[in-house]
Amino acid sequence: MAIEEPVRRAAKSRLYKPDWKHIEKGATEDFVRADWELLNAQRKEFYAEYQVEAVLKMMETFREEPSFGYQVNNYHHMLQSATKVWLDRHEEEDVVVALLHDIGFIIAPSRHGAFAAEFLGPYVSDRNRWMLERHQVFGDHHVKEYPSLLDPNGRDKWRGHEHFDWGAEFAEKYDQGAVDAKFESAPIEFFVPMVRRVFARKPHPKPIGE
Ligand SMILES: [Fe+2]
Ligand SMILES: [Fe+2]
Repeated sequence: MAIEEPVRRAAKSRLYKPDWKHIEKGATEDFVRADWELLNAQRKEFYAEYQVEAVLKMMETFREEPSFGYQVNNYHHMLQSATKVWLDRHEEEDVVVALLHDIGFIIAPSRHGAFAAEFLGPYVSDRNRWMLERHQVFGDHHVKEYPSLLDPNGRDKWRGHEHFDWGAEFAEKYDQGAVDAKFESAPIEFFVPMVRRVFARKPHPKPIGE
């Protein structure tokens, strides 16, 4: 069966700032040094201002998403988690980590911990990066009577690690119990200044290994 040709259109994106310039070449292999210098100058300003807006927009897209069974959707789960961390007077970074820990839950379900670790890793401590990457396994410890293979003691391979206790605490106090429709969360607006401060940090390279 012949595949119908799609209607194709060219599209040129508007610039983030009206006084910026496009590099008027359609392939990066044609860019010369001056093009890269201009692009990098605009890039630096773009990320400094827009990255956090994109993070907040991404969070916002999940606000009204339906649930597949939990009492609350992923957006409200993350708000509950962040509110609980805040109520326990943890540092601001921990609150932001809780707010965004499941940001990949819908689009990268089986690897959403690694997704969050990669996404937040440059802006947070190794303690939080480590926890994010493994939080799915720590969460398994709180699952009883799951109908198929799932190891509630999978976390034990990291026992003795300096961040083990934080992984266990996060799973127990701030993740597994944050699917409660009766829990009253703070609104996203409460957390936005915290998110802005964390993403305004100078990103550090992810440490190699563990
Ligand atoms: Fe998760
Ligand atoms: Fe979670």
